[in-house]
Amino acid sequence: MESTPLSPDLGAEVTGFTEGRLDDPDACAELQALFDRYGVLVVRDLDLTHAGQLRLAEVLIQKELGPGTPREDRWYISNRRERSAAPFGRLQFHADMMWAEQPCELVSLYAVEVEPPTSPTTFVSTTRAWSALGDDLRARIDGRHARHTAGEVRRGDMTDVILTNVINPPTTVKPLALRHPRTGQPVLYACEQMTKAIVEVSDDESEALLEELFAVLYQPHVQLEHHWRTGDLVVWDNLAVQHGRPNVAEQGPARTLRKVAAPMPVLTKDEIPTYAKA
Ligand SMILES: [Fe+2]
Repeated sequence: MESTPLSPDLGAEVTGFTEGRLDDPDACAELQALFDRYGVLVVRDLDLTHAGQLRLAEVLIQKELGPGTPREDRWYISNRRERSAAPFGRLQFHADMMWAEQPCELVSLYAVEVEPPTSPTTFVSTTRAWSALGDDLRARIDGRHARHTAGEVRRGDMTDVILTNVINPPTTVKPLALRHPRTGQPVLYACEQMTKAIVEVSDDESEALLEELFAVLYQPHVQLEHHWRTGDLVVWDNLAVQHGRPNVAEQGPARTLRKVAAPMPVLTKDEIPTYAKA
């Protein structure tokens, strides 16, 4: 296998990977090291079964998938398939299930049908963001925590944004400087879509501080875009990286991506977000 960096801060394209390489422990160790180093791995022109996508997740996070992780091949991000997640609209930057006590550590999307050009998926590094904050800003959030929720956050330009509609939105409070469970590096744990507030300060101060953090986190020149083709696999570290996307039109070109996120927390029916409207 060979890897080529895709940007200065995150992402690498891997060539020479096939699903069969998952039977080779050396190849698995190599992939795992690339995953922790680059945060986002891209493989193009890949044949990948759903079972292979699940196995790859276990290899990269170095643990077995928990009982909450769906084993069925039923989870799609698509503007074509019935009952898909996020079928249209723009997604603000976020980490999947950031509002859970144990957010998932990995997300992967495999493109089963894409008619280019369609909307990319966009990534930023939360590891880079933490080190780019500067001493003053870092000192102002040192030891502070933020509350994250699966709903109710409305911030910035909401044009085209998918709103989540949650009956009983789960929330969690976590340090703004979260330690990554494998690499030990601090990541900036706050996002525009799900972070409600910094809990130790007033609402106004919290929002002003979050705006400063987001200005560093979402600098346009550090964003990595992946432009989809059928047969693409993109797998990313859900703690070291946030993802989002521009608007997807329901009637636009086909964009069907098979999703695995792992490990998934066990959720009650009321805690599962449903998509309201864009
Ligand atoms: Fe997501």
